[in-house]
Amino acid sequence: MYKQIRAVVASDFEAVNQVIVDQLYSDVALVESIGHYIIDAGGKRMRPVLVLLSARSCGYEGKEHIRLAAVIEFIHTATLLHDDVVDMSAMRRGRPTANEKWNNPSSVLVGDFIYSRAFQILVSIGSMDIMRIIADTTNRIAEGEVLQLINKHNSAATQEGYMNVIRHKTAILFQAAAECGALLAGATDAQRAILRDAGMHIGMAFQLIDDVLDYDGDAATMGKNVGDDLAEGKPTLPLIHAMRNTDADNAALLRRCIETGGQQQGSDSRDSVLQRVIAIVRQCGSLEYTRDLALKQADTAIALLNQLPDTPFRNALLDMANLSVRRSS
Ligand code: IPE
Ligand code: IPE
Ligand code: MG
Ligand code: MG
Repeated sequence: MYKQIRAVVASDFEAVNQVIVDQLYSDVALVESIGHYIIDAGGKRMRPVLVLLSARSCGYEGKEHIRLAAVIEFIHTATLLHDDVVDMSAMRRGRPTANEKWNNPSSVLVGDFIYSRAFQILVSIGSMDIMRIIADTTNRIAEGEVLQLINKHNSAATQEGYMNVIRHKTAILFQAAAECGALLAGATDAQRAILRDAGMHIGMAFQLIDDVLDYDGDAATMGKNVGDDLAEGKPTLPLIHAMRNTDADNAALLRRCIETGGQQQGSDSRDSVLQRVIAIVRQCGSLEYTRDLALKQADTAIALLNQLPDTPFRNALLDMANLSVRRSS
């Protein structure tokens, strides 16, 4: 399905990839090495595609959406470099993470480089309104990651708190991608609001499913490891739901896992603890519960997008809302 979505903006998409690669230049060799390492590994490029489709669905005929899409992908890439350090993740996009291959300081600093390169490109686009949205968004993503850090090992985390974290750390970048595409196209206020909100709901669905896949996915398909969230003691929705819908013994095990990061317990190895947690989460229907919420988010996005004129771009956005839920990578 994703191939079909990309096909709608195929030449734009190629142009974005070219800008992304071209904009990694630096006099410092390590910056280029790590930059190319993560960028050349691919990734789905969902956020830049959202920019392209959003702009085109509002009738945009110019060229600036290409650089805007690259800006959004750079911000995403920088958050990944930082996120993998914070989460101590070892695999990303089917390869060892940059922190694994190099080290934490290099990942953090090259992440800073990519963030700031995004802002250099943004300045060259020259729209103060877009700059304001992207600056606010980047600021709020940072808050989201800090909020998540504070919630690490918190076995009293609530669904409401969790939704707030994912809105900040993930959904808001989808929101900005969609809104800025509309802004660039000179969309009406109503169209801009539709795309902004649809982007947010697609992003919420996307992260809800990411958190399901962390328990239920296939590492080779996803290109990243399963079980990272538990190992980090992250109280994501599958765990929050399971804790409230299982018996006292299982709930106590889940609490300990969040508090210790799923460390070995008694004679149970780390892996068998993860297997037990997965079994409880499945038994409680917590993955379906989380998927259902993702589906509701996608449905809200679809209802909004249906208010836009019927064009191939709008229809590809509808496909994207569906894909955010029905994805395995
Ligand atoms: C990973 O995003 C980070 C999350 C917000 C879940 P993606 O799954 O879009 O990562 P890539 O860009 O395709 O690798
Ligand atoms: C990603 O959240 C959030 C950001 C990149 C800001 P996750 O930690 O769940 O993403 P993955 O699973 O490492 O890709
Ligand atoms: Mg992570
Ligand atoms: Mg994840």
